[in-house]
Amino acid sequence: MQQTTKIQLKLIRPKDTYVVRHPVLRKGLPLNTCAFDFDDAPNTLHLGAFANDILVGVLTLLNKTENVQLRGMAVLEAFQGQGIGKLLVAHAENQVRQQNICTVWMNARLIAVPFYEACGYLKEGETFELPYGGTHYKMTKHLCN
Ligand SMILES: CC(C)(COP(=O)(O)OP(=O)(O)OC[C@H]1O[C@@H](n2cnc3c(N)ncnc32)[C@H](O)[C@@H]1OP(=O)(O)O)[C@@H](O)C(=O)NCCC(=O)NCCS
Repeated sequence: MQQTTKIQLKLIRPKDTYVVRHPVLRKGLPLNTCAFDFDDAPNTLHLGAFANDILVGVLTLLNKTENVQLRGMAVLEAFQGQGIGKLLVAHAENQVRQQNICTVWMNARLIAVPFYEACGYLKEGETFELPYGGTHYKMTKHLCN
């Protein structure tokens, strides 16, 4: 990790995520494509990474009772490769542990698979297509022994 700026992690509101989701995950598409199912659900958490008070990274945790789905993982291009994504995932996993939930999973874009592997996630099954982001793998990590 070659992080030089101090990064702060905080809970944010659903629509705050759009400033990162839009340029990174929905580039060139209408802003309303940044709205995800269950964004406003009471047990959904949105985490933001701030560099000098600017929101530069986001992720969303969807609570499915027995497990948690990580969605909307994105870091602004200029801030990628500095360890911010890894910090966000580690913080998210701590939130999940506090809820006594042991499994985190996501549908990972092919391009992001090496990142998730670096965070300890394993591919499950075959690839599949989703409307945004093309080919994906389901990836999972078990947090409990
Ligand atoms: C994927 C993404 C969230 C990663 O965030 P990031 O801040 O750039 O990643 P980090 O700097 O924290 O990298 C963490 C680790 O993953 C590795 N990694 C990250 N991207 C990688 C890549 N494309 N290939 C190989 N390794 C990669 C880093 O080398 C690092 O490994 P280390 O801890 O052993 O040094 C970010 O690049 C991004 O927003 N990409 C575009 C959107 C996207 O694909 N989102 C995922 C949707 S499923």
